[in-house]
Amino acid sequence: MSAKILDGKAIAAELRGQIRHDVETITRSGQRPPGLAVILVGENPASQVYVRNKQKACEEVGFVSELIRMDADTHQDQLLNVIDELNARTEIDGILVQLPLPDQIDEETIIERILPTKDVDGFHPYNVGRLVLRMPLLRPCTPKGIMTMLEHTGVDPAGKDAVIIGQSNIVGRPMALELLMARCTITVCHSRTKDLEDKMRGADILVAAVGRPNFVQADWVKPGATVIDVGINRLEDGKLCGDVDFHAVKEVAGWITPVPGGVGPMTIATLLENTLQAARLHST
Ligand code: GUN
Repeated sequence: MSAKILDGKAIAAELRGQIRHDVETITRSGQRPPGLAVILVGENPASQVYVRNKQKACEEVGFVSELIRMDADTHQDQLLNVIDELNARTEIDGILVQLPLPDQIDEETIIERILPTKDVDGFHPYNVGRLVLRMPLLRPCTPKGIMTMLEHTGVDPAGKDAVIIGQSNIVGRPMALELLMARCTITVCHSRTKDLEDKMRGADILVAAVGRPNFVQADWVKPGATVIDVGINRLEDGKLCGDVDFHAVKEVAGWITPVPGGVGPMTIATLLENTLQAARLHST
């Protein structure tokens, strides 16, 4: 058996098309387009690529986007001042501070300074709390994008056993909350988890976010499972690969996401979706 491919690139393109259409409707009615400000502190090469891709996506759908570059030795107070200014600007609907930040800056302090209605990453404790309480406002992009992909399988997640490998604030934890909200039974695995392979074998939905190339092996996957690969690992030859051994696992799984072209494009399209949602919050 060979798994069906969950084509994130195609689903993301469809989502961007809808957003572009919505933006046209908004601007035709005389309202301003949604605006996103992205702050990049320092020169982290991966962050530079992510930020460029986010900006390009904004332009394609007709958003106004603004990139604020700050030096690697920026003081925390300088960054807080920039956020205060963006919070006050009515034409800015979303503020995204690209992570990781340099060591002298405390990420939690920065995230908490962003107005919750402009927190298009969904990382502010207010937005995380709302997700915990099953009354989400702005939801973290990668897990929300994965939920959109799961809808495309046509399989109802309710009652399914979901296993998440990784407990980060950006992916693992909000992913658990999303799947719990969809009425899955959740197991979150991490570096101290016992019998990881057995737990993975029980998964109807397996989400891998470990950051280890080709970590998930075919004999750890339940036949017919939906396998979501969040990993983006660069190999020595420069090629990208995920956390799942794609070629072997696709022979066992029912659905699988490729890398590249799976979760990555969905994260960016969902950021656009969140920015449009924030713009609507600000216009009402
Ligand atoms: N760094 C890695 N992923 C993300 C993300 O989704 N948002 C932000 N702001 N930084 C990141």
